This record gives sequence, C-alpha cells and structure tokens, in this order.
Amino acid sequence: MSTQSRRHLLTGGSALLLGACSRPAPAQAEAALAGLKQLAPFPLGVAAMTGQLGDPQFVDLLVRNFSQLTPEWEMKMEAILKADGDFDFARADALADFAANHSLRLHGHTLIWYAETPVAFERLSGSGQAFADAYRTYILRVAGRYRGRVVGWDVVNEAINEDGEGERDCLWSRNLGPDYAALAFGYAREADPDAPLFLNDYFLETMPNKRRSFLRLAERLLKSGAPLSGVATQTHVSIHIKPGSIKAAIRDLASLGLPLHLSELDVSTRNAEAIAGALDMASLADRLAHQARVVEEAAEAFAALPAHQQYAFTLWGLRDKDSWLRRPPNAGDGSDRPLLFDDAGRPKPAARALLDTLAR
Ligand code: XIL
Repeated sequence: MSTQSRRHLLTGGSALLLGACSRPAPAQAEAALAGLKQLAPFPLGVAAMTGQLGDPQFVDLLVRNFSQLTPEWEMKMEAILKADGDFDFARADALADFAANHSLRLHGHTLIWYAETPVAFERLSGSGQAFADAYRTYILRVAGRYRGRVVGWDVVNEAINEDGEGERDCLWSRNLGPDYAALAFGYAREADPDAPLFLNDYFLETMPNKRRSFLRLAERLLKSGAPLSGVATQTHVSIHIKPGSIKAAIRDLASLGLPLHLSELDVSTRNAEAIAGALDMASLADRLAHQARVVEEAAEAFAALPAHQQYAFTLWGLRDKDSWLRRPPNAGDGSDRPLLFDDAGRPKPAARALLDTLAR
C-alpha cells in the first residue's frame, strides 16, 4: 500500500477503516473496504466462538480487520472428546468452515492442555498402555482432520508451573512422564507434516523466571528432536504492566530463532484495586490511553521481528464484550475493556495505536 494511501487511512480514512458503524463518504469508500489487516505485513489474528458468528456486526468487524482465526473453545479437548470417548467435531468444523468461507487462516488451539482433562481420559488414568494409545489416537485424529486447513497448532498449552518454576504436574505427565510434551509434538507432526507446531504459555512478559522455564522446556524439546517449530506467548497483560516488559519477552523468546506467535493479547483496564501495588488510573480515558501504549509496545516488538519469525499477532477477542474477562469466573465487576473495539464495535485508542504502528 502506498505511503499516500496509508496516510489517507490514518487520517479520515481510519475512522472508516476500523469502525463498522459509519457509512463511508463516496471518496473514502475505498478506504472503508480496507482494515487493519491491509496494513499488517503479517497475519492479524483474533479469537472467536461459534456463538458469535450469528452477529453480523461481529462478522463484519472481524473479516474487515483480521486475517486469522483462533477458535476460543471449539478445537479444545473438552469441545471435541465426548464422555464415551467418541469425537464430536461439529463445533470445530463450524469454525473451520467459517474461516475457509471468509478466507481466514485458521490456527488450531489446543491439542494438549493441563487444564482440560475430559472424563474419557480421567477414566483411563493409570491404565498404562491404554492411556498412551488414547493420547496418540486423540492427537492423530484431531490434527489429522484439520491437516491442510489449519496453518499451525498450539500442541502443548501452559506446561510451566503457575510460580514459573519447572513444568506442571498434570494428568498427562502423571500418565506419560515428562516426555508427554515431546510425544504430543511427535504425534502432531505424524498427523500433519507441514503445520508449524507451537508451545504456548502465559505471563512470560511479567514473570522472567517463568519465561526461563518456558525457554528451557523449548530447548529440551528441540534437543530431544521433538518437532517444535514455534513459540507462543499469550500476552494476557494489564495496563499496569511495566513498560518494556513485552519488548524484553519478545526479544528473549525470539532468541530461539523460531516463528513467534503473540497468541492471545488482551490488556485488562481494571483499576489498581484489582491489581495490587499498581499505578492507579482513575479515569477511563487514562486507562484507555495506557492500554493503547501497551498495544503499541506489543505491536512494535512484534513488527521488529524478522519476517520468518512473525507467525501472527492475535487478539483474544474482538470487542470488549466478547472478552473472556467479561465472563464468569473472570468478570469481576464487568467493567473491563481489554480489547481493540468497544462493546458497540467502535475502535478504541488501542486500535488506532495498532493501526499507526502497522502503518509506519
Ligand atoms: C479461555 C477462554 O477464553 C474461555 O472462554 C474459556 O472459558 C477458558 O479458556 N489461555 C488459553 C486459552 O490458552 O485457551 C484460554 O481461553 C485463556 C487462557
């Protein structure tokens, strides 16, 4: 896109560019067709759920601004694996079809996660080979079904302990040993020879010890020959994050030389009382301005990566009201505004900060 047209987008155009609520003047109709994704030299992702796809404003805003989709829930084990051990792909297929019908890349999330241990696996716990066979079958069937439809997988999610020290004890490690992660990567590669395979985790920006443990696991997987081909940092942060923390994390994580997915960005705007010892920003305008600066830092850090390491820059939801931080058990007082677009689908300062950074 020419500099002239980019500047146009950033002036009057951007108000049309991002919003789904104003009708473009004829002269700017072209600009209104564009969206954040037109400015991004890398995939811009967003999490979505099938329940949101019936909302025309949601679909219009998503398709206009994003080029990649992460199923927020539908490709997780609890959405696919039935109590009797059978597979139900209906919800995952619905999102995969939506992505294909709207020319969106589809990121698979997530094959193995400590937090989801459906009864079909709990029932097999301690059964030795039967558990191991079911684990392999699950990964082969799910990753095999979406081969050629997903552009990458979160193979193992949140493997590092809450306190950042070492790897979690979980159903998978208790039944398969510490190599459950390496096994998962191997089976995912067996099912899909091409998709980049990611290790994904959170608080890597705010807990340097957790980031060290994460990198140690990634290095152990690589050394063992596991087909780890990408690292993902969820980036669930708040407006109170220390400036520079995201840049430092991205720099560290990129040191492996692998593709990097900034996989689940949201920036909570809850005030100080929700986050102990943080800077108090009473006014909403202050908090939204701070949120814009955090999004700008994340976008700058990601944009500074070499192209081969820019897998995708993904927001964990479209409008504030779509956020998991507005639903139990995280909803708090329901006032959080963690995403780029407000409840009415209007772009917030954070959306402009992303647009301005992408257009540099
Ligand atoms: C969350 C979803 O957003 C919620 O709707 C669901 O109830 C729980 O899971 N890290 C992850 C995501 O990798 O899968 C989680 O998504 C948020 C934290």
